[in-house]
Amino acid sequence: MGVSIKSAEDIVCMRLAGRLASEVLDHIAPQVAAGITTGELDAICHRYMVEVQGTIPAPLNYAPPGYKPYPKSICTSVNHQVCHGIPGDRVLRAGDVINIDVTVIKDGFHGDSSRMFYVGEPSIQAKRLCETTYRCMWLGIDQVKPGAKLGDIGAAIQQYAESQGYAVVREFCGHGIGRKFHEDPQILHYGRPGTGMVLEPGMTFTIEPMINAGRAAIRELADGWTIVTKDHSLSAQWEHTVLVTDSGVEVLTTSAGCPERPAQA
Ligand code: MF3
Ligand code: CO
Ligand code: CO
Repeated sequence: MGVSIKSAEDIVCMRLAGRLASEVLDHIAPQVAAGITTGELDAICHRYMVEVQGTIPAPLNYAPPGYKPYPKSICTSVNHQVCHGIPGDRVLRAGDVINIDVTVIKDGFHGDSSRMFYVGEPSIQAKRLCETTYRCMWLGIDQVKPGAKLGDIGAAIQQYAESQGYAVVREFCGHGIGRKFHEDPQILHYGRPGTGMVLEPGMTFTIEPMINAGRAAIRELADGWTIVTKDHSLSAQWEHTVLVTDSGVEVLTTSAGCPERPAQA
C-alpha cells in the first residue's frame, strides 16, 4: 500500500471536505456548555452534516478490522479520555475539557479535524495541557514541506511535549487521508529528526497529537472504542488535515471560526 498523491482535482475536493469538517466544529462550539450531554452534541453535529452540509459523517458505522462498527457521528473525549469517546448520556460539567473530533465525507473525500473545548472555566493545569497540545500540533505542522521527513514531525511534537513535562500517546497516530478515512502513511507523534518517509507535494495527512498530563500509557474501555489514560491523568488532542504543497504546507481544515495558530514563542 503506497501513499496516494492527490491530483489538482483531488485537492479541490480535499479543501472543501476540510473546510466542511472545520465548519461542523464552528457550529458546535457555542453549544459546548455545562448541562448538555455528549449525545446531544452528536445529534446536533449529525443533523448539521447531513441536513445542512450534505456531508456523510465518516465515523458512523466505521468498522476497521478488529473493531465493531462505531455507533455515532462524532467522537467526544472528556477529561482523561484520550480519543474515540462515544457520545451518550454523559452530562458536561463546569471544569470539564472535551475533545470533539469530526470527520466528514464530501464528494468521496474526507476532512478530519478536532479541537479542545472548555466547559466553563478550566483549571490552570487543564488550560496549560490544552494550550501545550495545540502548540504541539502546530510545531508538527510547521515541519511539513517537500523533502522533510516524517520523523521531523514526530520529533518536534515529542520534544516540546516532554519539555513541558507531558507524555505523547504512542498507540494512535495521524494518518494519510483522502478517498479513504485512514490511509498510508502513519504519522507518529514521536520520533527522531531526519528519519522516515520523505514528504512529497500532493500528500495529504492528519497531525493529531494526543498528549497526557501524566504517563503515556492508555487502556481501552469495554465499549471497544473509548481510550483513556491508564493513570486517569488528563489528556488533550488537536487535529488538522494538511496538504504538502510545492513550497510547504497548507492546512485544509480551516474555516471562519477556526482558532488561529499560536503566537510564535
Ligand atoms: N477521527 C478519528 C481520527 O482522527 C478517528 C475516529 S474513528 C471513529 O482518526 F470510528 F471512532 F470515529
Ligand atoms: Co484523524
Ligand atoms: Co479525527
